[in-house]
Amino acid sequence: MRTMTRKLFVTTALPYANAPFHIGHMMEYIQADIWVRFQRLRGHEVNFVCADDAHGAPIMIAADKAGLSPQAFVGRIAAGRRQYLDGFHIGFDNWHSTDAPENHALAQSIYLALRRNDLIATRTIEQFFDPVKGMFLADRYILGECPKCGAKDQYGDNCEVCGAVYTPTELKNPTSALSGATPELRSSEHFFFRLSDPRCVEFLRGWTQDGRLQPEVANKVREWFSGDGSEDAGAPGGLDDWDISRDAPYFGIEIPDAPGKYFYVWLDAPIGYLASLKNLLDRRGQDFDAYLADPALEQVHFIGKDIVTFHTLFWPAMLKFSGRKVPDRIFVHGHLTVGGEKMSKSRGTGLSPLRYLELGMDAEWLRYYIAAKLNARVEDIDFNTEDFVARVNADLVGKYINIASRAAGFIAKRFGGRLAADPGVEGRALLDGLRAHQDAVAELYETRETGKALREIMMLADRVNEYVDRHKPWELAKHPEQAVLLHDACSVCIEAFRVLTVYLKPVLPALAAKVEAFLQIEPLQWHDAARSLGGHTIGAYRHLMQRVDTKLLDALFEPPAAPAPPAPGGEPLAAEIGIGDFARVDLRIVKIVAAERVEGSTKLLRLTLDAGEGPDPQGQPRLRTVFSGIAGAYAPEQLVGKLTVWVANLAPRQMKFGRSEGMVLAAGHADEKAHPGLYLLEPWPGAVPGLRVR
Ligand code: 2FM
Ligand code: ZN
Repeated sequence: MRTMTRKLFVTTALPYANAPFHIGHMMEYIQADIWVRFQRLRGHEVNFVCADDAHGAPIMIAADKAGLSPQAFVGRIAAGRRQYLDGFHIGFDNWHSTDAPENHALAQSIYLALRRNDLIATRTIEQFFDPVKGMFLADRYILGECPKCGAKDQYGDNCEVCGAVYTPTELKNPTSALSGATPELRSSEHFFFRLSDPRCVEFLRGWTQDGRLQPEVANKVREWFSGDGSEDAGAPGGLDDWDISRDAPYFGIEIPDAPGKYFYVWLDAPIGYLASLKNLLDRRGQDFDAYLADPALEQVHFIGKDIVTFHTLFWPAMLKFSGRKVPDRIFVHGHLTVGGEKMSKSRGTGLSPLRYLELGMDAEWLRYYIAAKLNARVEDIDFNTEDFVARVNADLVGKYINIASRAAGFIAKRFGGRLAADPGVEGRALLDGLRAHQDAVAELYETRETGKALREIMMLADRVNEYVDRHKPWELAKHPEQAVLLHDACSVCIEAFRVLTVYLKPVLPALAAKVEAFLQIEPLQWHDAARSLGGHTIGAYRHLMQRVDTKLLDALFEPPAAPAPPAPGGEPLAAEIGIGDFARVDLRIVKIVAAERVEGSTKLLRLTLDAGEGPDPQGQPRLRTVFSGIAGAYAPEQLVGKLTVWVANLAPRQMKFGRSEGMVLAAGHADEKAHPGLYLLEPWPGAVPGLRVR
């Protein structure tokens, strides 16, 4: 193991800012956080950052649907991040956004460097264009019939029914998924990163195969170079150029010297790693360029297996050929399934991390459970409720927490909180045995074999519990003459518990803090496992961790309560009336023949109504005037010609603007300010002016 201080720059994948976190995000963050905490515990310097991945067509479209600017839309999502990160003890040093100024500047500078290096080309391509939305359509926004099997409603790139892979132009009867319009083929100039350039190919062949990647990842990548099984990136024996531009309208970063062209979101997303780091260092007054120029700096990215191409081809090549530091390690993990069910990228699974926290479940149960399942391979891991309960209750609480709870009371009550100076031969042997595993446990954390690390630690906890069972402190306590033996046994337990706490601290940081408070010691570092607490006085034992109640897991997977209906407002029902009371109100269908704004009022519209009353004595059609407070909800021109319901026999009212005869009916909330929205009633087709509503 290295002993010098390492400098680490660690990231997790930047989540799209279009939805709250799901359990898959939390799994990745927990994995990376454990590794980072382990490094820090060993005294290494880590900058651990992430950011929202803000750009791209899906976010632009989602913002549009929500009636928000993309900036406001991603801002809303970003505001919800903190509660998850704090809730699960994820210790990022910075959370930033790919739409931040640092990222605009870095993306443009990296692009310009690639251009100077003759690695940017332009080419005119033909692409489907939605004439209604006025935008080019990515494959996923085109629907049509599969050219091979004829299945309807298939996306533009592959058929979910027969598995055929094709280009959108091969679809039969294509339509835009955004507007339903028939898309038109239009041509547009696109910018490409020339990955096919021999310099890139040569660099990547080396970089991907020099042992920095997990073996299964390196093998997969090698297939792309050799041209077999290469849907993603490879032309036979080489690499395809990468289309890095998108046409306006697009939420993204403008390409220098190319009006109306934006970087494809996947170009600026990983640059967001650097932007977040830069933002952090700037705020600390540290020099970003100098930091990255340090040859000792290790740059590490934790990612999921679905985004390997971006991180093993495009990203290192972008960095290399813009003259920047390339990543040292890409740690790829599998996906999380829940009860064997796969996760949807947008919806996640039935396991909501927020609901988990809201139910008061201990975040460290989940950290421990996920840690127990993690390994260094690209394997999917499954969340299984019975398994979760067993690991937490039997291992974490039953084996580890129990050690402290079995010994601490005696130390406090019988020995004034003071630990024995020297725990005797057997105790020393036990403790030395625990300490002897320190490097092995460290190596397992270092290599992300976290599950194995926890198994090793639990095996050590078993040894301690066997020691307790052999010495039976509860028996010793009955015999005053055995006080020394009791003192030794319990002191050994507390000392062992402290050593195990060091080993578990990367996984259980909040629990470790409670233990440090209870033991009245400074925050534990990795090397503290080797020290001895002999003669030290500890504090009173407070309960450290509950067992999981299976009822909580039932509640976690219950379908969430139906969302509240839109602003019913809980307005209580009015007092009961008889049918006679109702019959006194004369409600009529009317036609709105004119509607105008009222000068001097922002609320009122003047409506002229035909209530089907026929001509007046002068032979003119008899019309009614109503001043209605619906100007905020409707424009006058929307209303003309519509039918609605009128209260015919309401006493007329003289208003500042004129006489109002009756009123028209609209639904709305009693507290209009808190719940805006007013909805004029409209009869079904067939009703005519003058008909009574009864
Ligand atoms: O797949 C995703 O969720 C992407 N938002 C990950 C981006 S990682 C990095 F490149 F920014
Ligand atoms: Zn098909």
